[in-house]
Amino acid sequence: MPDVFSQLQTEALKTFTSIQTLADLEAARVEYLGRKGRLAEAMKDLASLSDEEKRAVGKSANEVKRTLEGGFAAAEARVMAAEQVERDEREWLDVTLPGKVPNIGHLHLTTQAIEEISGIFSHLGFVRARHPEVDWDYYAFESLNMPKDHPARDEWETFFMADGEKVMTGEKGKVVLTPHTSNGQVREMERGKLPIRMISIGKCYRRQSTARHLVMFHQFDGLMVDKKVSITDLKGVFDHFVKQYFGADRATRLRPFHFRFTEPSFEIDISCAICEGTGKVSGAKCKLCKEGWLELGGAGMVHPNVLRAGGLDPDEYTGFAFGWGVERTMMMRSGINIDDIRVLYKNDLRFLKQF
Ligand code: FA5
Repeated sequence: MPDVFSQLQTEALKTFTSIQTLADLEAARVEYLGRKGRLAEAMKDLASLSDEEKRAVGKSANEVKRTLEGGFAAAEARVMAAEQVERDEREWLDVTLPGKVPNIGHLHLTTQAIEEISGIFSHLGFVRARHPEVDWDYYAFESLNMPKDHPARDEWETFFMADGEKVMTGEKGKVVLTPHTSNGQVREMERGKLPIRMISIGKCYRRQSTARHLVMFHQFDGLMVDKKVSITDLKGVFDHFVKQYFGADRATRLRPFHFRFTEPSFEIDISCAICEGTGKVSGAKCKLCKEGWLELGGAGMVHPNVLRAGGLDPDEYTGFAFGWGVERTMMMRSGINIDDIRVLYKNDLRFLKQF
């Protein structure tokens, strides 16, 4: 074996046996066995030999090549095995460990109440409807028997939409953030599908913020219109809801009231859950209700002018309507002891997670 091949073999095998990493393995492969590696270079020199010399040297050169390839394969197997052991250590996984529980949220208290309330009314055949939150004052007031500039409108402490300084107006009057869901009553009649059994739930806006008042709150407006609908139907629907939602132990009362869009009109009160109807908590006045009763909302028989605005003949059709606050209704339920309504929308997770 010529010196150059024997030297190459000794050197390469020594290098192969000392290799520890995948990077060194690749470097050694390129250096000794690569296309431009040292073995290839030595082979190239054979070209200049005579045929006889080529035969003799070529044979031993091929033996060196095979030895180098064998040595490299052994080094490769050794390094790969060591690498595998190390990877197994590094990536070891205990599949029996309990998984990480993802942070799952839940529906907001108000959304839960809305779903529950619409569920109770749906059993009585009331269909959930949605009407605009930004509406013309025609639907919020005028169609509800409150003509332009009527003082009754003041009670709704309304936000008007403005473009700069100028109040926006449209096809049917000024544009308002609707102060009550009753704006859906005439809209529903205009759809012309009778009889009507609607429960419209949505956001309302008023310029009010106290322990009992929110700037943005939710109402649900019930409307039933058909031939021969009477006040006993209203009472029946109302009693069913109160029993289902509050339970049998809560007291309710109807108070005569005045709304421009119902005649006769009532306000519906329920005994306060915080002070259990006494009006006092530890000797002091109940912060929430002050007198033992909390108003849930209004109700009454739909005024003939409202039926007319909806294109219906009041001699043929009658109806009842009611409109209650979702947050107030929910707060009056036993077990949810909130003495300031504004806590609902402070986004305090310590509070929200309790429900
Ligand atoms: C009305 O809004 C009438 N549209 C209700 C109605 C409908 C009467 C159909 C007759 C027939 P009122 O302004 O009283 O009425 O509001 C109804 C209820 O909404 C209140 O009793 C209360 O539960 C709730 N509510 C009113 N203002 C607020 C407020 N700022 N924050 C939270 N809840 C409110």
